[in-house]
Amino acid sequence: MIPEKVLLMRSATIIPGLILCLLFVGCEPRQERRLTFAVGGAPAELEFWEELLGEFRRESGIEVELMRQPTDSDQRRQGLVIPLKAGQADPDVFLMDVVWLAQFAASRWLEPLGARMEESGLPEGVFFSRVIETADRHEGELVALPVYVDGGLLYYRRDLLEKYGLPGPPQTWDQLIDYSLEVQAEERNTNPDFFGFVWQGAQYEGLICNFQEIAASGGGGILVRDGEISIDTPPNRRALEFQRDLIHRHRISPPSTYTTMKEEEVREAFQRGNSLFERNWPYAWRLHQGEGSPVRDKVDLAPLPHFPAGTSVSTLGGWHVGISRQSDAKEESWKLLRYVVSYKTQKKLALRLGWNPGRRDLYEDSEMLAELPHFGRLRDVFDHLLPRPVLPYYTQVSSVIQRRLNAALSGQAPPQEALAAAEEQVRQIARRYQPE
Ligand code: GLC
Repeated sequence: MIPEKVLLMRSATIIPGLILCLLFVGCEPRQERRLTFAVGGAPAELEFWEELLGEFRRESGIEVELMRQPTDSDQRRQGLVIPLKAGQADPDVFLMDVVWLAQFAASRWLEPLGARMEESGLPEGVFFSRVIETADRHEGELVALPVYVDGGLLYYRRDLLEKYGLPGPPQTWDQLIDYSLEVQAEERNTNPDFFGFVWQGAQYEGLICNFQEIAASGGGGILVRDGEISIDTPPNRRALEFQRDLIHRHRISPPSTYTTMKEEEVREAFQRGNSLFERNWPYAWRLHQGEGSPVRDKVDLAPLPHFPAGTSVSTLGGWHVGISRQSDAKEESWKLLRYVVSYKTQKKLALRLGWNPGRRDLYEDSEMLAELPHFGRLRDVFDHLLPRPVLPYYTQVSSVIQRRLNAALSGQAPPQEALAAAEEQVRQIARRYQPE
């Protein structure tokens, strides 16, 4: 405690000082620095961020400029790596895909958050601990926090399943093919653009997510860890053959699958009424159910199908927020970060955009569960999400695998050859980054 006498002495010097300050322009109260916040996404998401930053500005008095990025995850990463590598102070705060965190942390681009969390009394325990441990902690230090958690889901047209007397969403991939063939044949009579199943097969990060889900639902997966690498395996071959066959043999997925189909292209095709099934992330729900959507009230959600002896698998996706170590306004940045992960903001993100919050405490929120009942219904899916390999050189690994998988989908290479080549190249990359 400070003795009263000292307080009196202090105020005796502070008060005249303040009066002097008010008289002289040089003593104006310190201006808060202007922040830059980099984020991308679908147009509705950017609109949301603009609004949110406006609210933050009004509440905190801190100016924030939105640096708009594209939707594609790979392009967003490049947009951040360039200024970060160049040592620039902007952007101060940014959103990161879960798969970049190992690289960003190892490059020391992220400001440690542990001490600030402790000081401000924000308990780590409100976030999903498995996600924090998999993604946000690097060498024991917390460097980011989850904004939302993504997992792959199967969207389906409830009305069409009923129309054709089908019992419910498919449990296995074979059922998905059968239902698609039946419904597609009929629907084509009136809609020549109709396909059974749309999913992300373009050469980009989303293809890895789709492939991993199918492969792991039959006992496969992408393993790259401490010298252990396995990509060209029988279940992975089956998964890639299956994906190729959806397009070329059964023809229930459009040829554009391997050229242009990313999240938004897939969502739009389904939303226009051109597909029975769709693989996408939770964000598509709000848009499908939005006003003016041709599939409004005709859609439902289910876990992804699996192979007969396997189980349903969803890839762990999602976006995390961090502060640049090079930021010249770290205090203000921390205030913004806290605002983004606050209960209030995360609830808005869920209600407006349908995103699955990174905070667990929101899953008990009755208003949220009433608006988004599938959050409760699909909780199991979100408890068992499968991460992609966690590596500082994940981007290199991913870009090799993307290219090889995509070559098999387009028919340029047989699946087995594509997987063998991917495995060989990944070995070379791993040797370069982790010499024995
Ligand atoms: C979503 C996921 C992200 C993933 C990306 C792939 O944005 O949240 O983790 O990498 O899709 O396209």
